[in-house]
Amino acid sequence: MSEPAPGPILIPATAVRRRTALLARKISALYQNRDLTLLGILNGSIFFLADLARQLTIPFRVECWRLRSYVGKTTRSAGTVHGITKTPGAFRGANVLIVDDILDTGLTLAATRARLVAMGSRSVRVCVLVRKHKRRPHRVRADWVGFDIPDEFVVGCGLDYDGMYRGLPDIRVLKAPASPRE
Ligand code: XMP
Repeated sequence: MSEPAPGPILIPATAVRRRTALLARKISALYQNRDLTLLGILNGSIFFLADLARQLTIPFRVECWRLRSYVGKTTRSAGTVHGITKTPGAFRGANVLIVDDILDTGLTLAATRARLVAMGSRSVRVCVLVRKHKRRPHRVRADWVGFDIPDEFVVGCGLDYDGMYRGLPDIRVLKAPASPRE
């Protein structure tokens, strides 16, 4: 049976690079003279987190949580966040910047933010590479956004379909398989 595959480029790699550099400058300015803990949400944020972090001009710590709301061959959120009870790191009194690949339904980021507040973080902000344009069941504000995109399933730059395509340098729309000939 054929599988969905990466389709047209939505955001080229050059634009991702330029935008990441700009975000790093803005974030560095805001956290000047404040402690900063970056919290990467794995697996999707790995490339964006690494690219962003290396361009910050201020000192910071890095923690990562492995959370999943999409499991297997699907483009729909499962509606629960797996892993939210296993959240290592000392966040009491910390200024935390959550770094994730995408703000979609908002479920993952809402759960992450609530968990950080419960763990005693002093401030919690959010930076995402892409934000889908849609009505969100979970209200979450992103403080820094790379790109606003239409409500399409996307892959590349850390974003995956069933674990694949994370390493694509451009962000692409996932294309449904061609229907079989009648
Ligand atoms: P929510 O719905 O919780 O989604 O905001 C957050 C997580 O779901 C995954 N996700 C996607 N992954 N293309 C992907 O490759 C998409 O269009 C997409 N939408 C959501 C992703 O892991 C994200 O952290």
